[in-house]
Amino acid sequence: MAVLHGDNPTHCLVMVGLPARGKTYVARKIMRYLNWLGHKTRVFNVGNYRREHIGSLQTHEFFDPGNVEGARQRTEVALMALEDMVGWFKEGGEVAIYDATNSTRERRALIQDRCEREGVRVTFIESICDEATVEANVRATKLDSPDYVGVDPDVAVADFRKRIAHYAEVYEPVREQEGSYIKLIDVGRQVIVNAITTYVGSRLVSFLVNLHNVPRPIWLTRHGQAEYNVVGRIGGNTHLSELGATYARNLKTFYDERISPAGDVEVWTSTLVRTHETAAILGRQTLQWRALNEIEAGFCDGLTYAEIKQRYPDEWRARSRDKLGYRYPQGESYMDVIQRVEPVVLELERQRRPVLVISHQAVLRAIYGYLMGRDPEQIPHLSIPLHTILELTPKAYGCAESRFPLGPLLPAHAGPSS
Ligand code: F6P
Repeated sequence: MAVLHGDNPTHCLVMVGLPARGKTYVARKIMRYLNWLGHKTRVFNVGNYRREHIGSLQTHEFFDPGNVEGARQRTEVALMALEDMVGWFKEGGEVAIYDATNSTRERRALIQDRCEREGVRVTFIESICDEATVEANVRATKLDSPDYVGVDPDVAVADFRKRIAHYAEVYEPVREQEGSYIKLIDVGRQVIVNAITTYVGSRLVSFLVNLHNVPRPIWLTRHGQAEYNVVGRIGGNTHLSELGATYARNLKTFYDERISPAGDVEVWTSTLVRTHETAAILGRQTLQWRALNEIEAGFCDGLTYAEIKQRYPDEWRARSRDKLGYRYPQGESYMDVIQRVEPVVLELERQRRPVLVISHQAVLRAIYGYLMGRDPEQIPHLSIPLHTILELTPKAYGCAESRFPLGPLLPAHAGPSS
């Protein structure tokens, strides 16, 4: 698959922090973001190795630094994860996220040495949180952890607090001498950056400064059916059809009943007529993004799929072989679209308000693919039908999705769209 940018692509992001600091949440978000950008990224979670090789139901005594046997076993699983990670780099992995507390300098030095021997760059990502966030994290994620299956919630919370205290006894925050790091304080309230010199590192800084954990829904919809959709032509800048105008009215009803009660909603459109006409009836000020315009089909703009196949059979075949990487002559590929909508995605992450995005098929595939953590290869084939609104609500690790087909129903599309 095409990679967007690459200085030395192998990079290990080492999470650092006491338990319940949201490390796994951040690790998974980074994985989703970098994979979406085309960097092969994977999380190595040492807790999972512990559960698999030692067992999940360990009480806090196991994590006591004075427990010699416990410490030996914990080091053993940490090394297993490390060696698996090194093996994965050898198979072509680019960015590994080594997710554990890594709370002592000794442990971090060990990881750094091992990575340096393999020519892998290391950046520490340390999460430091206030007590209220820790409390919320414990309740939101730890009670459902496999470590506490069947355990009374109050007993689980008390045990987990003791586990945190054991780690706190030996915790050493990352120091400047340790090299490249990003410190996240109170989920983005403050971000401290040291020695970030790579492309991936700089993308990460922009990404991480925008992170927060305020839950808010995001709605995605294509414009109502446009004149070109009626005749199966791609691209263009046509008006809504009659059915498309009916969709806009249905969207207004949905907006009044379900979207607007969610709070002070942002409405984003592309700069094309069909999204403006869909949004106009909402009677709201909208933010217009050129980045939300449909994939640029270059010299195929305005043609039907049948015409493209007949006039440019080589182009047709090339696109069928690699829809993600294929770039229309004088136009764009899906990878280009992903790169183009990246600022929109960062802004979606930064927003605390609910957002309604009214855009186009290819662009919404890219945004949906990010939000739902889909493989880039799947993105060009995702189903984003006309006259349907998607509601995505962030959850601890991902989004819950509901689809509302608002109608009117449309006859099946003339040409293939995946
Ligand atoms: O057909 C509607 C449309 O939005 C076109 O303007 C665009 O080229 C196409 O969908 C993108 O879908 P696909 O990548 O499947 O051709």
